[in-house]
Amino acid sequence: EFHKGPEELKLASNGPFGHFDNQQLQRGFQVYKEVCSACHSLKLVSFRDLQQIGYSEAEVKAIASQWAIETPAPNPETGEMATRKNLPSDRFPAPFANDIAARAANNNAVPPDLSLMTKARHDGPAYVHSLLTGYQNQPAELLRKFPDAKTPKGLHYNPYFANLNLAMAPPLTSDGQVQYTDGTKPTVNQMATDVAAFLTWTAEPKLQTRHAAGWASVLFLVIFCFLTWGAYKSVWRDTK
Ligand code: HEM
Repeated sequence: EFHKGPEELKLASNGPFGHFDNQQLQRGFQVYKEVCSACHSLKLVSFRDLQQIGYSEAEVKAIASQWAIETPAPNPETGEMATRKNLPSDRFPAPFANDIAARAANNNAVPPDLSLMTKARHDGPAYVHSLLTGYQNQPAELLRKFPDAKTPKGLHYNPYFANLNLAMAPPLTSDGQVQYTDGTKPTVNQMATDVAAFLTWTAEPKLQTRHAAGWASVLFLVIFCFLTWGAYKSVWRDTK
């Protein structure tokens, strides 16, 4: 009864006519880059995929080579495992070497890969937005009813998280945490919306193509409907 479903979130990609707003996706990418990527990988997305949201090949090359987290690879001379700069064909790398290192840094929780997060959770984009903006103090009523349910040390109360306490500290805490270059005001709510839009794209980059194909087939079926009706009329024309 203390858990809440996500609040409605309006994104350009919603609904059957939904499309991606590349400017918003680029802002969301900036939030991912500057905030989330410190803990979360995007193992199903490669740097060169960013060309789909409006970055040029040269920009992608620069983003990849300047990325703070390098890609694991053997040292070409010694053959020992090391890391190297990212190439456009690399996936967004995980910031921790393995789950043990991830747990050690995050109060025994592993930050999940975010590639498919908006598909993995019900009403995913809205969920991500609500989760990021929904941290709060535990309601007094909860503690009155369940005194043992006090949020353990190192966890954070969030009514949108299924079991109410999660290991992720609020990642977006102040307006202007990220500096947007397109004039959009980087309020916490805006940054959360933009990163939710970006994660909608990572989880379903072909959303627009799917919508276009859907409408094309509806149009075909409507035309086909008239054709069949015409054929029926013409076949039975001379029959009483
Ligand atoms: C979990 C998003 C930044 C650490 C999650 C979840 C989402 C998410 C959607 C999954 C919740 C679920 O399982 O339903 C984001 C976004 C970020 C961000 C969009 C950037 C705006 C960070 C940062 C850290 C972090 C910077 C580390 C300092 C974690 C951890 C979990 C988690 C440890 C697992 C929590 C648990 O299972 O208790 N994050 N995150 N996240 N995140 Fe983040």
